[in-house]
Amino acid sequence: MSLYRNTVWFLKGLREYTKGGYESAAKHFVAEDLQVDVTGKSYMITGANSGIGKAAAIAIAKKGGTIHLVCRNKDRAEEAKKEITTSSGNENVLVHLLDMSSPKEIWAFAEKFKAENRLNVLINNAGCMVNKRELTEDGIEKNFATNVLGTYILTIALLPALEKEEDARVVTVSSGGMLVQKLDVSDLQFEKGTFDGTMAYAQNKRQQVILTERWSKSNPKVHFSVMHPGWADTPAVRSSMPDFYEKMKNRLRTEEQGADTVVWLAISPAATKQPSGLFFQDRTPVSTHLPLASTHSSPADEEKLLQTLQDMAQRFSPEACTA
Ligand SMILES: NC(=O)c1ccc[n+]([C@@H]2O[C@H](COP(=O)([O-])OP(=O)(O)OC[C@H]3O[C@@H](n4cnc5c(N)ncnc54)[C@H](OP(=O)(O)O)[C@@H]3O)[C@@H](O)[C@H]2O)c1
Repeated sequence: MSLYRNTVWFLKGLREYTKGGYESAAKHFVAEDLQVDVTGKSYMITGANSGIGKAAAIAIAKKGGTIHLVCRNKDRAEEAKKEITTSSGNENVLVHLLDMSSPKEIWAFAEKFKAENRLNVLINNAGCMVNKRELTEDGIEKNFATNVLGTYILTIALLPALEKEEDARVVTVSSGGMLVQKLDVSDLQFEKGTFDGTMAYAQNKRQQVILTERWSKSNPKVHFSVMHPGWADTPAVRSSMPDFYEKMKNRLRTEEQGADTVVWLAISPAATKQPSGLFFQDRTPVSTHLPLASTHSSPADEEKLLQTLQDMAQRFSPEACTA
């Protein structure tokens, strides 16, 4: 079954996720969608010092938005800030240092941020594919800690700030790779069998799609979306998937092409005309399952994912840490 899914997914990718796929989809884009002025609105982008996150930050800064860059490395963050301000002419770019794999740090950051700032849009972009099973200092598997638990805690911690604003949005950068995975709540931290970083990443990205669907139902004041950027030429692809990169490097999207739907979901009025909770590719809602693939999860499994994340998040919350 997984051979079937992987083959169908790869063929779909060759058609749709490449630069050529972007160019044919872009023929149907509506230019006016992005002709907006977002001066006065504030946008938080995690992992904004490189790749898709930085390209999205530049595009939104050009439209006047205040940009909060959330990055783990001070030098890389300051370097990106310089590039974003220079290329956009927008000085309202702020750096926040945060390791998205540290639940305690995320809680503390979100509490402080909410007390000092407004937030209109959260873009959950930071992501990783760690190819060996490694644990964070809290003993959590690194891909899960960054891609799922970190995304979960940052989002729920910032929801009260988002809910105060008109037209609040949460955009999560998932991956089409999630199409090959069915939610597996029995082994969220990949303790069983042989560890496969690509499949761990795909499982994490499936979980982000499910989280978005669930959040959209429980938080009607905020518009949630999750998306696939296509295959874009970024540092993560070069370092985590060197064989794939070698094979595909001439067909990969630019970082700007990868960021296009992120930007569209974050700022265009057209995006929120779509229902909350959908999965997008090239500005269009698309299926979260491959044809004939048995990747649908049960409500009970989805509930278990939510409950586990809630329990883990609670364990690292400020209340639990001071108790
Ligand atoms: N490029 C693609 O083809 C593709 C396809 C599907 C999905 N995506 C998704 O797109 C998103 C952006 O990735 P990208 O391709 O643009 O790669 P990238 O340029 O390497 O960007 C990833 C960003 O995430 C940050 N990050 C990773 N772990 C972090 C942590 N623990 N705390 C804080 N920041 C952390 C990285 O920071 P450092 O610079 O410090 O490492 C970097 O800024 C990811 O969620 C990825 O899964 C990309």
